[in-house]
Amino acid sequence: MSTTRTANGNGTSKKVTVPDLLAMKSRGEKIAALTAYDATFAAFEDAAGLDVILVGDSAGMVVKGEADTISITLDEMVFLTRNVSRGVKRALLVADVPFGIMHPSTESAVSGAVRLMKEGRAEAVKIEGAGPLLEAISRMVATGIPVMGHLGLTPQSVHSFGGYGLRGAVEAEAARIRRDALALKEAGVFALVLEKIPATLAAEVSHSLDIPTIGIASGPDCDGQILVNYDMLGMGPKFRFVRRYMEGCEQITDAVRRYVEDIRSGGFPSSDESFEA
Ligand code: KIV
Repeated sequence: MSTTRTANGNGTSKKVTVPDLLAMKSRGEKIAALTAYDATFAAFEDAAGLDVILVGDSAGMVVKGEADTISITLDEMVFLTRNVSRGVKRALLVADVPFGIMHPSTESAVSGAVRLMKEGRAEAVKIEGAGPLLEAISRMVATGIPVMGHLGLTPQSVHSFGGYGLRGAVEAEAARIRRDALALKEAGVFALVLEKIPATLAAEVSHSLDIPTIGIASGPDCDGQILVNYDMLGMGPKFRFVRRYMEGCEQITDAVRRYVEDIRSGGFPSSDESFEA
């Protein structure tokens, strides 16, 4: 096995593990994470040296075309995770537990997480929220299921929040995020996503924990960063917190437009792109 230093969390080309991410935090190394929803994108992303690939329930929006993440089912998440797993060699593969699986009972929560690992081949699961979910989270951790927490703007609660605005801007909510972060750490989560909270609050939470925080729209002081792959590839609406590394909407539409023109003009396929007996 190569021991060449790569940007994949453990300084080698070997698989990134949960302990690698904890070690990165203690060394002050930033964790690079991104979502994926299929094997092809996952393989490109993995080869680029990501530490974590998340099969996000954002698939409900970017893959299914729904307005929120609520409708995605456990069966759909298992299917997507299994597909992504075939493209991932090195990054830690994390899958979202979708809406409605955590709440009925600890048993339904644990069996949902088990399906994501056993059938989907996820190596960890991500769970939005804390409070009443802590018991199920502790049970998962005790069962050998690594759990990543998620606080701040938790999109599964969009209808309670009334939209996708900044969370933790008022002191009472900031205090709750601080408390929940600590409670999740106590319950055994190995990392914590902080979504759309003020950068100062994210910095404070990150410094107070010995597990890594992974920020999205939460400023530069988290221990890592995550984005939705479609967003950073410019394949979705423009968001202030997203840096677009290509203009996918324009480039893909232009490529397809040229393909259509080539077919209509008779320019495609050429003789080189055809077969003779
Ligand atoms: O579902 C998702 O894609 C997420 C990340 C963006 C954190 O939860």
